[in-house]
Amino acid sequence: MRKIIFPVLISFLLPITLFAGGGMWLPFLLGQLNEADMQSLGMKMTAEDIYSVNKGSLKDAIVHFNGGCSSSIISPQGLLLTNHHCGYSAIQTHSTLEKNYLENGFWAEKQSDELPNDNLVATFIDRIEDVTKDILVGVTDKMTTKERNDKISQNIKAFKKAYAKKKYEDVLIKPFFKGNQYILFVTITYTDVRLVGAPPSAIGKFGADTDNWEWPRHSGDFSLFRIYANKDNLPADYSPDNQPLKPKHYLPISLDGVDAGDFTLVYGFPGRTDEYLPSYAVAQIQNAIDPARIEIRDHALKILDKAMRNDPTIRLQYASKYARIANYWKKWIGERTGLIKTKAVEKKQKLEQEFTRRLAENPELNKKYGSLLDDMDYKYQEIELLAIYRNYFHELFFRNIEIFKPANSLRRFLAQANEENYDQLAGSTKKSLQAFFKDYQPAVDRDVFKSLMQLYTDNVCTAYFPNYLLEERFLEGYDMEQLAKEFYDNSIMTQPEKLYQLIDDKKTDEIKKDPVYQLFMDIVDAYRTRLNPEYQAIKAPIDSMQRRYMAALMEVLPEKKYYPDANGTMRVSYGQVEGYLPKDGVEYLPKTYMEGIIEKYVPGDYEFDLPQRLLDLYEAKDYGPYAENGRLPINFLGSNHTTGGNSGSPVIDAYGNLIGLNFDRVWEGTMSDLNYDRRICRNIMVDIRYVMWVMDKYAGAQRLVDEVQLVHPKAGQKSSKPWDGQKKRKRRKRW
Ligand code: ARG
Ligand code: ASP
Repeated sequence: MRKIIFPVLISFLLPITLFAGGGMWLPFLLGQLNEADMQSLGMKMTAEDIYSVNKGSLKDAIVHFNGGCSSSIISPQGLLLTNHHCGYSAIQTHSTLEKNYLENGFWAEKQSDELPNDNLVATFIDRIEDVTKDILVGVTDKMTTKERNDKISQNIKAFKKAYAKKKYEDVLIKPFFKGNQYILFVTITYTDVRLVGAPPSAIGKFGADTDNWEWPRHSGDFSLFRIYANKDNLPADYSPDNQPLKPKHYLPISLDGVDAGDFTLVYGFPGRTDEYLPSYAVAQIQNAIDPARIEIRDHALKILDKAMRNDPTIRLQYASKYARIANYWKKWIGERTGLIKTKAVEKKQKLEQEFTRRLAENPELNKKYGSLLDDMDYKYQEIELLAIYRNYFHELFFRNIEIFKPANSLRRFLAQANEENYDQLAGSTKKSLQAFFKDYQPAVDRDVFKSLMQLYTDNVCTAYFPNYLLEERFLEGYDMEQLAKEFYDNSIMTQPEKLYQLIDDKKTDEIKKDPVYQLFMDIVDAYRTRLNPEYQAIKAPIDSMQRRYMAALMEVLPEKKYYPDANGTMRVSYGQVEGYLPKDGVEYLPKTYMEGIIEKYVPGDYEFDLPQRLLDLYEAKDYGPYAENGRLPINFLGSNHTTGGNSGSPVIDAYGNLIGLNFDRVWEGTMSDLNYDRRICRNIMVDIRYVMWVMDKYAGAQRLVDEVQLVHPKAGQKSSKPWDGQKKRKRRKRW
């Protein structure tokens, strides 16, 4: 049996002499795979400066923010920088119409004013190891998918159990290269993370959904938190006795700015990419999956938008929800457009032709992989409708129609509750219900229900309908008005007080009789007993074929470059400050300035209004040390390969200093998740000088400005091995 040892194989393929772009690399393999390439782009650090298990390195300042975003530590007192949109729901939770931090911003005057948050965690990575050999021990090519998966789960379980770790550490093992490689991450998660500062949305979210995913951009998309630890500097739940974390490393902030061509490194936690799909799978996303998802959200967004425009309370309640739905709606539209424009499907077909041609030349490989592409094609065709229905299921019942959210909390509660734990579970369930009802408008949701259930009954095959909808009277024709009436007028899910009372009185039978609760149980049942088993029965062989295809590509086309798909683990992307050509005759420059904010300003508009204070400072050109030739830089573009989850990632210069904050990508390039294209895929970053200007000049948050370390690497103060800052810890001069 031939075993492929991936790290070794990969190192054959590289180094690349010319920067080809693309790639989200594992920090602990940079020395082997990327260092030379990075240095040829101007990087002055070594791989060891970026990731080391033996000494402090940049890695120690990089934080996974609540599992979904990235962030970094920027002061010796655990000050954490992430995006405004990553801190958004924390900021919103603390906001009321009277104390509206979303609208007006929030700045804790002193440490004791910093606001604790339920359910907000910050995770560091202590070390990373390749554990492929241990996890694949006893796994053979002869095994069925199920046997293989079972064996791997067993191995992972045993490995974790035997692994020596500290009490406060966690161990995470994730598949890479579609399950050909397994990597272990030892993590440390802090649970006392407090809100320190946030600009008003007019700065943090300037341009809102109109500008989202687009360039030119002018957003101050940042917010500040602080990690607190117990007296031993270890993770602890909130307590007034906790102290600010003393980090192993924090990023110095460069005030020298960026120019086209400068080296950039983005360090964070990209969520998910799929770069190695066959052509027909990409075509399926482009022509079937994306259009279905776009259509569903189109309907929901139109209803929310109208309600929000008419009522300021609803606008506040639905701001975060709307942004979340609109975000991927617009992304999918961009993705589809980009796939078509860059001829992604044709590009993949050409690769497959070359793959097939090479197989034809090599009988041994042909025997191994000859039928793979056809087999996968068949399975992808088979799964298409089920995949669409599955999207309907998730989009409707778990995202866009809200009334099913309390139903789902109650379902979980009732499934777990017994005599002993009832009160405790009731408490936490009520807490999450209260959070839900705080921002819930049944009338708006009812319209969403009517609109989306119509789409559902029109487009999903009845074989997967919840039983309730299969009743005779419905099959004659669905009257959505009637259906909505039946549920929304009669359910306790729209009457929180009554619901809490039932929970307190332990009248669980009455909850179970609720029409929405029952419908939801039917929905879950249809999914569990019909839709999902059928889907998984095809998905499992697809996954296994994708794993073999990944290995096949690397074996058959070894001259190509391969990097692992994003999977929520720590990665490094690198590139340069760089504009692009979005269409014929148009060139996008890589930097924007304050003048652009003023150009976009529309007084009173909910997306493009500006605070008076910003206008005044602009008039006075009061930019302090943050200006560049008299202009205040706002955002810049780079050729770093990023995806969802990379938001809040620090952008680091050639020496290890912070120069920016990643928050978005350009619309033409959002197909980078499936087909990275060096020509038009760009990430968008906030210039750190704008962040500092807002903190310092706009908000007057002097205590925070005093906390960070400002440096001038370009002016010869080539700081640094990054951690020198801490060792010296001299009181720095401020320019
Ligand atoms: N598109 C960016 C990302 O995927 C930013 C989203 C937040 N901003 C917004 N206007 N919705 O997260
Ligand atoms: N805005 C995304 C995020 O929140 C980043 C991206 O998709 O480029 O992670």
